[in-house]
Amino acid sequence: MQQKPSMGAAAFCMTDTTNKQAPQQPVLTRAAFGDDFQWGVATAAYQIEGAHTAEGKGPSIWDTFASRKGKVKHSHTGNQACDFFHRYSDDLLLMKAMGIQNFRFSLSWSRLLPDGTGKINQAGIAYYNRLIDQCLELGITPWITLYHWDLPQALEIKGGWTNRDIVGWFGAYATLCANSFGDRVKHWMVLNEPMVFTGAGYFLGVHAPGRRGFGSFIPAVHHTALCQAEGGRILKQLVPDAQVGTTFSCSHVEPLREQENDIRAAKRVDALLNRLFLEPALGLGYPLEELKFMRRIEKHMKPGDEELLRFDFDFIGIQNYTREVVRYAFWTPFIQANLVPAKKRNVPYTHMNWEVYPEGIYHLLHKYSGYSTIRKLIITENGAAFPDELRDGQVNDQQRVDFLQLYLQQVLRARQEGANVEGYFVWSFLDNFEWTEGYEPRFGLVHVDYSTQQRTVKSSGHWYRDFLRGHNL
Ligand code: BGC
Repeated sequence: MQQKPSMGAAAFCMTDTTNKQAPQQPVLTRAAFGDDFQWGVATAAYQIEGAHTAEGKGPSIWDTFASRKGKVKHSHTGNQACDFFHRYSDDLLLMKAMGIQNFRFSLSWSRLLPDGTGKINQAGIAYYNRLIDQCLELGITPWITLYHWDLPQALEIKGGWTNRDIVGWFGAYATLCANSFGDRVKHWMVLNEPMVFTGAGYFLGVHAPGRRGFGSFIPAVHHTALCQAEGGRILKQLVPDAQVGTTFSCSHVEPLREQENDIRAAKRVDALLNRLFLEPALGLGYPLEELKFMRRIEKHMKPGDEELLRFDFDFIGIQNYTREVVRYAFWTPFIQANLVPAKKRNVPYTHMNWEVYPEGIYHLLHKYSGYSTIRKLIITENGAAFPDELRDGQVNDQQRVDFLQLYLQQVLRARQEGANVEGYFVWSFLDNFEWTEGYEPRFGLVHVDYSTQQRTVKSSGHWYRDFLRGHNL
């Protein structure tokens, strides 16, 4: 089950990440990716907007969850976050100055529909109109995610993702978004990382809404998978000239030892993390052969559901941070597998304790290119948290520069070998609210001082700008 692990105070060492036998890396320039390759940055509403009660916004499950004691480190909440709701205009100007041409952000469902369904909050529509219009004026292409984990609390009270009615609620929300913004927005993603929000939110209980166990998880998975396809159909129908995708958290998975039980455990983890939500959309059904413990999902299937789970997305969003190394674990319920943490394997890792493993993205790109029905891949998130410090008005985050370069080199290598990857978005533009970890982990190309809301472009932001300008680095 993928969850967000707690932070460790480790830095990664460049020399450790390069395998001495690794093939020669291609030269990393923007031009090497070709003119049509799309470059951008990614964010999400709850993580940056703040203004949690402003102008008619209703509460989301993250507003509720973060306000509960002990759920988020240091009792941090997204109430203010980066105050992007009020500062978006200056932030877009900064983005423009950094040469960023594609901006991925999500819509807050409860800002648009405070009760999840029914009454529309016109102030919410007006806010996103201003944001979209300024993007377009600046020549920045908006890429919208419909759902990045912040379900309206009013819907959670009715069962949230465990209630099949969500297919109708989500459909109405998707319709509103497509009708309101589809005249100008031509790049859409339905969901952000369904495995993470159902696994962490409805099985482990460590993310909002904090529910636990199979009784919640199994129906949440099925209804989410139905919404994934339904959202795609609605967007495509209402905005026929749009590129419609959806995004998945993906990690390259390997067995700890070349032993039968570890190999089988790794296959189960791979099915859970990398295939569970993708394959039904491709018409392949849930990977129940590997995930026997999930067979009870069939009880939630109604006649015709297999067809309803399918949607032919224009692109699949790949979100990759790390690799997972797996060992067989008899005592771990259901999956009988454990993830072996990077720290125990003596490999480099980031401030999230996630292994730095650039080759992982290379393997994933080939893996997903192997599905003949995936039209194209976009890396909708990749990045790293490091313990950045603001000193004398500067943030020298060389580790992040190294990380991005090493991962991009592997993206280029896969692309040159024929992987159908056509875009790359850095997570994230700004430091932001990192869910249960609060504000401690910093993922941004731009540093945020949360007491003053001062923005400072980090070395990685300068590097990305120069890279995008095609400077020889
Ligand atoms: C999520 C982001 C998150 C990032 C780093 C992705 O799983 O989409 O919301 O901040 O990873 O943890």
